[in-house]
Amino acid sequence: HTPSPVISAVSAKSYACQRRTPLKHHNLFLTEPLELLAENAELGENEGRSVAFRRAAAILKTLPLAVKRMEDLQGLPCLGDHSLRVVKEILEYGSSQEVESTRHSEQFQAMKALTGIFGVGVKTADRWFREGLRCPADVAKSEQRLNSSQQAGLLHHEDLSQHVSRAEADAIGQIVERAVQEVLPGAHITLIGGFRRGKETGHDVDFLITHPEEGKEEGLMPKVVQWLETQDLLLYQKTTRNSYLESKEGPARPPNNMDRFERCFSIFKLERRASGEAHSSAQATEGEPGGGEGRAPGPEPLPQRRPAGWKAVRVDLVVSPFSQFGFALLGWTGSKLFERELRRWAGREKNMSLSSHALYDNSKGCYLRASTEEEIFSHLGLDYIPPCDRNA
Ligand code: CTP
Ligand code: MN
Ligand code: MN
Ligand code: MN
Repeated sequence: HTPSPVISAVSAKSYACQRRTPLKHHNLFLTEPLELLAENAELGENEGRSVAFRRAAAILKTLPLAVKRMEDLQGLPCLGDHSLRVVKEILEYGSSQEVESTRHSEQFQAMKALTGIFGVGVKTADRWFREGLRCPADVAKSEQRLNSSQQAGLLHHEDLSQHVSRAEADAIGQIVERAVQEVLPGAHITLIGGFRRGKETGHDVDFLITHPEEGKEEGLMPKVVQWLETQDLLLYQKTTRNSYLESKEGPARPPNNMDRFERCFSIFKLERRASGEAHSSAQATEGEPGGGEGRAPGPEPLPQRRPAGWKAVRVDLVVSPFSQFGFALLGWTGSKLFERELRRWAGREKNMSLSSHALYDNSKGCYLRASTEEEIFSHLGLDYIPPCDRNA
């Protein structure tokens, strides 16, 4: 048997963090169906199954050619029986019955629509589904008690269900830059998440904020948020403070969840030009520190109607101490699967614990310092993978 050209170009590296996964690849016709099954498993709270489908899709994204025959897959890791069955069916018939019936099922569509509302997780969506709700409009009409994020999510659902463009992300970046410089000169902001990986669009915009003088960043988020609010740039925000320092877990086990930084889930009110192109409304007040008079507020639009002058955009802000910046940058650039694979590699192959705060070597019993992503990959014994190739 001659080795397949597809395979011979890819060594059997089974962790996504060992491989380069570009944004554009040759097997979307296979990865889209597999990721749909992964999403369906997530909506059914079957994490193991979901990760298995995501890993299968991820290996196919690294291949330099489109898969033509099952033989092309020989020797590839990460492809379980179920994924192989789906791939085989697509290669033979052009589509998979399981995928298409899932895609069109009422439960999948409703769960996707309901969890698509900002503030609504799988558990809430599942309860609503069992109570007969199927879409955001059903929720709006119902008597459901909504928390403040869900209220904001429903109110701005139309805007939030649109993709955020790169131009809009850049405009938000200018606003965040301006806000941060107003309250803490010398602070740095970095675009993270999907846009840092080179995506053209996103469901939100993510930023990491730090200051080269350790400690200066403490308490920064409330000040940034307050400045944004006085400028009428926020439609919603929920800030959570840093809980890393107070955590009781002790040095032996750095926390694996990433919710311990000072962070803010928000919805920005992004002005758009008549052309439809986003621009920063902070520019309009340039040279008038503290003053918002340069902006004409105009009448409040009716709820649920597309407002003419602005678009609601989801923005995540994270503040990290300078000493943890490299870990925060690596941990918040994604993709989610790439992050998961990095932590799995660290734990299973290196006996280390990686979080967005630190890397701990369990064998040596010490933390491994790093100020750049390159150093962290090196501590982990991995070749450096640039952000654009972390699209697993
Ligand atoms: N993240 C996290 N904790 C959360 C949410 C997200 O650590 N509660 C991290 C993810 O691991 C990811 C990054 O934040 O690395 C960005 O997450 P997200 O914005 O959800 O995804 P993106 O990759 O940016 O894709 P999208 O374009 O859909 O926003
Ligand atoms: Mn994002
Ligand atoms: Mn997302
Ligand atoms: Mn995000």
